[in-house]
Amino acid sequence: MPRPSILIARAIFPEVVDKLAAHFDVEANQADEIWPREQLIQRLQGKQGVFTTGGERIDAALLAQCPGLKICANMAVGFNNFDLPAMTAAGVLATNAPGVLTETTADMGFALLMAAARRVTEAEHYLRAGRWDRWPCDMMIGQDVHGSTLGIVGMGRIGQAIARRGALGFGMQVLYHNRSRLPEAEEQAVGARYAGLDELLRTADHVVLVVPYTPEAHHMIGAAQIALMKPTATLVNIGRGGLIDEDALAQALRAGRIAAAGLDVFEGEPKVNPALLACTNVVLTPHIASATVPTRKAMAHLAADNLIGYLAQGRPLTPLNPEVMGEA
Ligand code: GLV
Repeated sequence: MPRPSILIARAIFPEVVDKLAAHFDVEANQADEIWPREQLIQRLQGKQGVFTTGGERIDAALLAQCPGLKICANMAVGFNNFDLPAMTAAGVLATNAPGVLTETTADMGFALLMAAARRVTEAEHYLRAGRWDRWPCDMMIGQDVHGSTLGIVGMGRIGQAIARRGALGFGMQVLYHNRSRLPEAEEQAVGARYAGLDELLRTADHVVLVVPYTPEAHHMIGAAQIALMKPTATLVNIGRGGLIDEDALAQALRAGRIAAAGLDVFEGEPKVNPALLACTNVVLTPHIASATVPTRKAMAHLAADNLIGYLAQGRPLTPLNPEVMGEA
């Protein structure tokens, strides 16, 4: 039997390319070119698998032109680049990379929360600009994190890891909102209380979004929701950019309607809304919440193991649409 062929759509760790090459004929992209969609489709001809990193849109139109494709393995826990129903209809397996990035991503959620509430990057810019020439008692004063009320929107693995940090490490009251309520024992284990979204926004001193992006969640935080928040509140987003109406957020930040924000994800990334760039009270990072060496390697290995598990052994580790198995 000929070896399956796969495409690795972006540059990844050489050890992971080597691991895949032990099982497959591999076309890699170690130059990390951003292939236009037509080129991606052309390179997918004759391939049974593709390793994606979250930026490659896999939908019905692409699948119709790639009839040999059997699996798309995302090196990300989020999979909003996949049209899952279209993949299932085409009999193409989708896999993501859950679990391995939970704690690292929760750390970054907290880093953004601390940086926004305590004005860390704003203060650093002030210092670097040579503006620090005395010590006024109200210089760069921000908001306390310890002992405050944390509102977490999206209580999956990462949301729960943030709740633990807040409740156990910082003595915070933790409220959460989620599509479904956690069992009571799990709420107690992470020290969190369920609240409706409006109640959470009104009550929390700091709000962290960790919701997966779906069309229903598009701009779930807009002007009306921001208007419910305290003027001293901070808003952190480590979910997906499309969860927030960025123009409304920029306007609120400019007007001092809320105190600060910390954003790792953006609606048009890697482009960032110029209105946000113009605000000083927002901490901006380029989608790096999972970016530590062990975690990024674990994500890449899991995506590779899904390709190997499915195409070479018939058993993927983290399938999103296991119902297609058996049709491959
Ligand atoms: C990163 O955003 C991920 O979904 O893994």
